[in-house]
Amino acid sequence: MNSDSSLKKAALCLVLLCAAQLVTSVDQNNFKKCDQSSFCRRCRTMQPGSAPFALVEDSFQISTHDVKAILLNKENNVQFTLVLTSLRDNTLRLFINELSPMRPRFQVPFVLNELELNNNIKFHSKNPANISMTIGDEHAVTFTYDPFVLNVFQDEKVVISVNSKGLMKFEHLRTKTDQEEDGAWEESFHSHHDSKPYGPTAVALDFSFPDVDHVYGVPEHADSFALRTTDGGEPYRLYNLDVFEYELDSPMSLYAAIPFVTAHNSRHSVGVFWLNAAETWVDVTRSRSSLTGDVMSKIVSFVSGAGGDSEAPRSSSNVRFMSESGVIDAYLTLGPSPYDVTRQYATLTGTAPLPPYFSLAYHQCRWNYNTQKDVQEVSTQFDTHDMPMDVMWLDIEYTDQKKYFTWDPTKFAHPNEMVNNLTSTGRKLVVIIDPHIKRDAGYFLHDDATNNGYYVKNKDGNDFEGWCWPGSSSYLDFMNPVVRDYLASRYSLDNFPGSSLDVHIWNDMNEPSVFNGPEVTMHKDCKHYGDVEHRELHNIYGFTNVMATFDGLLKRSNYQQRPFVLTRSGFAGSQRFGAIWTGDNMAEWSHLKISLPMCLSLAISGWSFCGADVGGFFKNPDAELFTRWYQTGAYLPFFRGHAHIDTRRREPWLYGAATTALVREALRARYALLPHWYTLFHEHEITGAPVIRPLWFEFPQDTNTFSMENQFLVGNSILVRPVTDEGATQVSVYFPGPQEVWFDRDTYEAFTQTGTVTIAVSISKIPTYQRGGSIVPVRERVRRASSLTLQDPFTLMVALNVNGTAKGSLYLDDGQSYEYRKGEHISLSLSFANSVLTSRFASKGRLPTESWLERVVILGVPHNSYSKARIQSKSLGTTFTEVSYNSGTKSLSVRKPKVNMGEEWTISIE
Ligand code: GLC
Repeated sequence: MNSDSSLKKAALCLVLLCAAQLVTSVDQNNFKKCDQSSFCRRCRTMQPGSAPFALVEDSFQISTHDVKAILLNKENNVQFTLVLTSLRDNTLRLFINELSPMRPRFQVPFVLNELELNNNIKFHSKNPANISMTIGDEHAVTFTYDPFVLNVFQDEKVVISVNSKGLMKFEHLRTKTDQEEDGAWEESFHSHHDSKPYGPTAVALDFSFPDVDHVYGVPEHADSFALRTTDGGEPYRLYNLDVFEYELDSPMSLYAAIPFVTAHNSRHSVGVFWLNAAETWVDVTRSRSSLTGDVMSKIVSFVSGAGGDSEAPRSSSNVRFMSESGVIDAYLTLGPSPYDVTRQYATLTGTAPLPPYFSLAYHQCRWNYNTQKDVQEVSTQFDTHDMPMDVMWLDIEYTDQKKYFTWDPTKFAHPNEMVNNLTSTGRKLVVIIDPHIKRDAGYFLHDDATNNGYYVKNKDGNDFEGWCWPGSSSYLDFMNPVVRDYLASRYSLDNFPGSSLDVHIWNDMNEPSVFNGPEVTMHKDCKHYGDVEHRELHNIYGFTNVMATFDGLLKRSNYQQRPFVLTRSGFAGSQRFGAIWTGDNMAEWSHLKISLPMCLSLAISGWSFCGADVGGFFKNPDAELFTRWYQTGAYLPFFRGHAHIDTRRREPWLYGAATTALVREALRARYALLPHWYTLFHEHEITGAPVIRPLWFEFPQDTNTFSMENQFLVGNSILVRPVTDEGATQVSVYFPGPQEVWFDRDTYEAFTQTGTVTIAVSISKIPTYQRGGSIVPVRERVRRASSLTLQDPFTLMVALNVNGTAKGSLYLDDGQSYEYRKGEHISLSLSFANSVLTSRFASKGRLPTESWLERVVILGVPHNSYSKARIQSKSLGTTFTEVSYNSGTKSLSVRKPKVNMGEEWTISIE
C-alpha cells in the first residue's frame, strides 16, 4: 500500500470514528477538569483573603493619566509593578508584572487598538490605610495598601472591587527547587507530557461587582447567557479546543475564547477584559457583600467625606480569572450603560468592519458538495424552487488530498468554470483553507514552509508534527510576520489558480485542532517565533490565522474589496476579521435553543457576526426541526446551512413541498430584512453596538429580562422569539415596557401590555415584533441573490409608539468596496411625527441610486382620517398619492410614493 492510500485509510478510519461517535456525546476524559491542570488546582485551592500582596505606601507615583506603585508579595518579598492607567471613554487599565522577571513575561500582541490616555487623574487624599484619586468628574479609585485592594467608585458607590476577595496570585519566574508542588515543573495528561521548562507562572485576580446579580460573557461556551455560579463545580474554561460533540449547559472550553465579562444591574453596567491568551479558567461566585468587613472599615470616603460607600451592598457577583502564564493586564470598562460598555470594549479591541452585503444573506454549505457539477446543480435547484441563496461553500474534499490552495483534479477539474457559473447568477463561493499543512514532499506549501522554517516547532526545535484531516501535518506559525505575509500572499489570484475575487475564505480547525495532541490540540511546550511557548499564546493562534487571511484577501484586491472570512476559533478582537460560527453542533432541539445564548454572549463581547450550523451539523434533523432552524437562523447574524459528511443530503427541497415552502418563507424573510441587517452592521462598525442584543440592552432596568435567552432584539426595534421546542403550538413572549407597543410583523396586531403573553405558533409562525416608535426598511422583491437587489425599491415599515411617532435609519452603499469610507454611501435618518414622514441625510455621504420608495406601511393608526399623501422631493417637486386604511389591522398604506432613496423627501399624510 503506498503512503497515499494508507493515509486515505487512516482518514477514513477517522471519519468512521466520527460516525461511530454520532450516537454518543463528548468524551469528557479527553479534556481537562480544573484539578487536572496544576495551575488551576493551585489557584483554586487558595482560600479567600489569603493573597499575600500589599502595596508599598511610599512607592506611589501619580500623574494625570496613571498611578504607579510597587506591590509586594509578603511571603517571599518578590516585588511587582502596578500601573493603573486612565484611558479614553471611562476605561481603566490595571497592569501588574514582576519588577525584575528572570525572563520577559509574554504580553499579548495584535489584540488592542492603540490606547488613548486620559489626563483626568487627580490625587485626592491619603491616610495610613489607603490612598485615593478622582478620575474625571464621576469616578474615583481607592487603593488599600494591605491587603492590596483597588476599589473603583462611580457616584460614590463601588462598581468594581479588585482583589477584595483576596484571591490574587502571581507566580514569579524562579529556578527549580526540591520542594515544588506536583505538576508545577512538569505534568502529564493521559499519554501527553508537558515539560514546563519555566515552571509555575500562573496569574489570577478577582473582580467583584457590588449589588450585581447578573454577569455575562466569557464566550465561547455552550451554556446559559447569564453566567452560572461555579461554586462547587467546574470554572468556565477558556482554552480554544476542537471539542467533538460538545455537551450543552457546560463550562467546558470550545473553539473560541473571549476573556471579557459584563456585569449588569438595573442601575449600571460595567465590564472587565482580561487580556491573557494562555489557558484561563473563570470562577463566578455570588456573595452577600463583595467587601469584607475588614476592607470596608479601611475604606475612607473621599467623596462624601463620611463613611465611604455608606450603603453596604446587598449582594455581589465575583469573577475570578486564572491564567497559566503571562501578566495581569485587565481593562475595566465603566459603562454606565450596556451600550457604553460595548463601545468601550470596542475602543479597546476594535469593531467589525462593515461586511460585504452578500455575507449577510443565506449561505449553503455541506461537507461536502462532491463535484463541481454538484455545486452547479444545487445552485440551480435553489432557482428552480424559487429560494434565494447567495453563497455556495466547499468543504475540505474540494482539495487535492487536503492540500489547501489546490483542487481535486477530477472532481473539481475546472474551478474557474464553476466559479463563473456561480457568479454569473450573482452568487459567490467560499472555500475552506485550514492552517494545518499536509506533510507531503512536493506539495509547494509544505516545501516552502519546511525550507523557510515557517512551522511551529516542538520542544526540541524540530517542526511540530500532528495529525489532522490530511494525515501527518505541520502547522504554520503565524506569530512570525513573514509567515503571515506568506499565507496572505497565497490568496493572491495568481497564487491560487481557480479562485477569483468572488471566492471567499473559511478558516477552520484553527484552535489549532491536532487529533493526536493533548486535548486535541498542540503541546504547550511547542515553540513559536520569538522563542515563545505555545502555552503563552494558544488562544490567539486562530486569531493570527484569520488576521493573515483577512490581510491576504485585502491585498489580492489591492484593498478594493471587503473580505469575507469565517473562522471557528478566535479571541478578543477577532471580530475585526470576520464571522464565527458555533462549530459542530447537533441536529437536536437543545442545540437549536443554545445557539441563541451562544451568539448573544459573543455579540455583547464584541463579536456580533455569529451563527450556528442551520439544521445541526451532526445527525439528521426531521422536517419540523429543520424548519424551525431555518426560521431561527434567519434572525441570527450569520445564516448558513451546514451538515456533516455522514448525514443525509438536506437541501431544503428534499423535505417535500410543505417544508420547502416554509423554508422559502424563512429565507425570504431574511432577504426582506437585509437592508436593516446591513444598517445595523454599519452602526456596529461606528459605535460597537451589538447587532443582536439581549432585551436588557434596551430595557436596562427591567429585571425580568436579565436572565432571558429565548428571545432577543435585532437592533433596537425587532423582537424575535424563535420557536425552539418540538411540537410547540404556543410560546410565551415577554413584552418589555412600560409604555411600549409591539406589532406582530405578520398580522400587525399590537401588544401594549408589559409582561408575558402566550402566542399561538403554527409551523409557519415565528413570532417577531416591531417596536412602536421604529421605522424598519425592507426590500420585498424576491430575487435569487442579494447582489441582484441592490437597486431594488424599498418599503418602509413605520410602527408608531404611544405618542404617534417613530424613527429609524437606512444605510446603503455598493455592498462590496471601501468607497463608502470616502463618502460613497447614503445614510438616512427617517422620522415620523405629526403625520409627516421625513427622510434626511444623516451624514455627508452621497451615492446615486435607482432605489425608490415603493410603499410605506404605518402601523398603529387608530382610525382613518386620511385620504391622500402629499410628497415633496427636489426631483419630483410636489406630488400626491393614494393611501389606504385597513381597519382590521389599523394600518395605513401609502402607495408608490416613488421618491428616490438617494435624496431627502417628506411625505405628509392628509
Ligand atoms: C470541522 C468543522 C466542520 C467541517 C469539518 C470538515 O468539523 O467544524 O464545519 O465540516 O471540520 O472540514
